[in-house]
Amino acid sequence: MNQKVTVIGAGNVGATAAQRLAEKELCDVVLVDIVEGVPQGKALDLAQAAPVEKHDAHLIGANTYEASANSDIIIITAGIPRKPGMSRDDLLATNKGIIKSVTKQVVQYSPKSILIIVSNPLDAMCHVAMEASGFPKQRVIGMAGVLDSARFRAFISMELNVSVENISALVMGGHGDTMVPLPRFSTVAGVPITELILPERIEAMVTRTRNGGAEIVSLLKTGSAYYAPASAAVEMAESILKDKKKILPCAAYLTGEYGISGLFVGVPVKLGKNGIEQIISLKLTAEEKKALAKSAAAVQELVDAMKKMP
Ligand code: APR
Repeated sequence: MNQKVTVIGAGNVGATAAQRLAEKELCDVVLVDIVEGVPQGKALDLAQAAPVEKHDAHLIGANTYEASANSDIIIITAGIPRKPGMSRDDLLATNKGIIKSVTKQVVQYSPKSILIIVSNPLDAMCHVAMEASGFPKQRVIGMAGVLDSARFRAFISMELNVSVENISALVMGGHGDTMVPLPRFSTVAGVPITELILPERIEAMVTRTRNGGAEIVSLLKTGSAYYAPASAAVEMAESILKDKKKILPCAAYLTGEYGISGLFVGVPVKLGKNGIEQIISLKLTAEEKKALAKSAAAVQELVDAMKKMP
């Protein structure tokens, strides 16, 4: 393949992302993990599936970063996932150290890459990666909005019994309990759901979307969601690799947009070969603005908490 993506963390999200990247024949894939043998074993297993799946992406696994050199994109999924009863914020201290360490190592070998951060708590980890990499804001992007919007879209599809392909949805804000699903900007074949679904049913779907990750954690009991998170990260990577310029909700470093400055928050952005090529500014109602400000405040709290950590 012409392009190369390194996925750091060969666990549930990372290995699934590697599989999707290869099976869509988007790029060669390097899987990196701290556990000896795991990235090598999973990469070999995926490579042996290639003849059946009919793709020619090369996959390799490693415990060090040499093989990742000159990657176009780095997807960071390293860290610990949450267990039942834990919020994403409970992962802060552990994952902060891991993200800092892996980012510093990987950017030495791929100084021109674009970082897609998946590890939680997502928005805070974007701050860690931006600081550790020294990359400009266009090249550090958090995966959350695509996942949260996909969850909202899935629930809308279940409610109306229509194809998921007809549904687009928008969830902004931080990737936590205060995220902001926006029914006004969520449509079925172009028709806003506010014209199709009763307000109390929409409210129920909004709540289920906010708790979408926790619902899966409580079912799995031993870890968190990974199929949909991997799909979301790969959609972002595809838009960058193919320079598609898709508008996708992602965590972006804001410098005044939506009245927010110096903070990663989920907003619609245009993703192309340069990373974030544009931040789309939507006109929000007073209520929507208030919800977004509340969500940004929750992200700020985590960023402030990290500053007090060693
Ligand atoms: N360097 C490289 N890999 C690491 C490091 C490190 N310093 N520390 C941990 N890892 C690896 C682990 O060995 C493990 O294989 O990260 C992987 C994480 O995989 P899982 O435990 O399966 O977790 P997963 O479900 O993939 O979630 C990863 O994504 O969605 C978020 O909240 C989730 O923060 C979590 C992350």
